[in-house]
Amino acid sequence: MPLVDTHCHLQSPRFDDDREAVIARCLEQLDWLVVIGDDIPSSEGAVALIRDRVYATVGMHPYYAEGVDDACLDRLRELAATPGVIGLGEIGLDYFNEYAPRDVQAVAFRRQLDLAIELDLPVVIHNRDSDEDAYAILAEYADRLPGCVMHCFGSDATYAERFLALGFYVSFAGNATFSKAQQLRDAAAVVPLDRLLVETDAPYLAPVPLRGKRCEPWHVVHTAAVIAEVKGVSAEELGKVTTDNARRFYRVA
Ligand code: NI
Repeated sequence: MPLVDTHCHLQSPRFDDDREAVIARCLEQLDWLVVIGDDIPSSEGAVALIRDRVYATVGMHPYYAEGVDDACLDRLRELAATPGVIGLGEIGLDYFNEYAPRDVQAVAFRRQLDLAIELDLPVVIHNRDSDEDAYAILAEYADRLPGCVMHCFGSDATYAERFLALGFYVSFAGNATFSKAQQLRDAAAVVPLDRLLVETDAPYLAPVPLRGKRCEPWHVVHTAAVIAEVKGVSAEELGKVTTDNARRFYRVA
């Protein structure tokens, strides 16, 4: 069935021993996948993996907000010019691990949203324990952004509805399959089929029944199955619709 992993980190050192084998395995089961950057080295690593059916994004995660200066933005611009770079991210706010002060995170976030508009790239948003501030910033930008996805959605149905009202996509990862994650499944229930994406965030958050293992992009099949159940559609239909959505969001032909 059609299926895409819209968010993984295959450049992670956790794949250093068998990365090519993992990619081969994934491309047998998935239509395509997107390798997401977190900082400059990992964005370079993502770009280095671009090939047929493997795309990349570049960006600075809020953990590294203090590194977002002019030179960093110039490097992101250069990397973004590589064919196969289809988005900017992951960018956003993280108040759970507040590795950079909140005001610094906000500035880094805004500068990268400006860059996404300049480069005409959709954005991949990381938002952890920062709903209200992320919403306020994104609401300012929503009309101008070429596309926006709330990645690894971790908030509740009310916030899902607020982000949807801004025209955004909402993406669910393996944590939506965890038994205690009813809040995430309730959030998925309010997301219309045409705004849903699925992802792994590999190597993190392997879905049930693989929880605790190193996550690989093909594991998205398990997340898709759970979300399909929530939405009351077949796994095949969920795969098809989320693949269409991913194609539209990332503008992949
Ligand atoms: Ni990620």
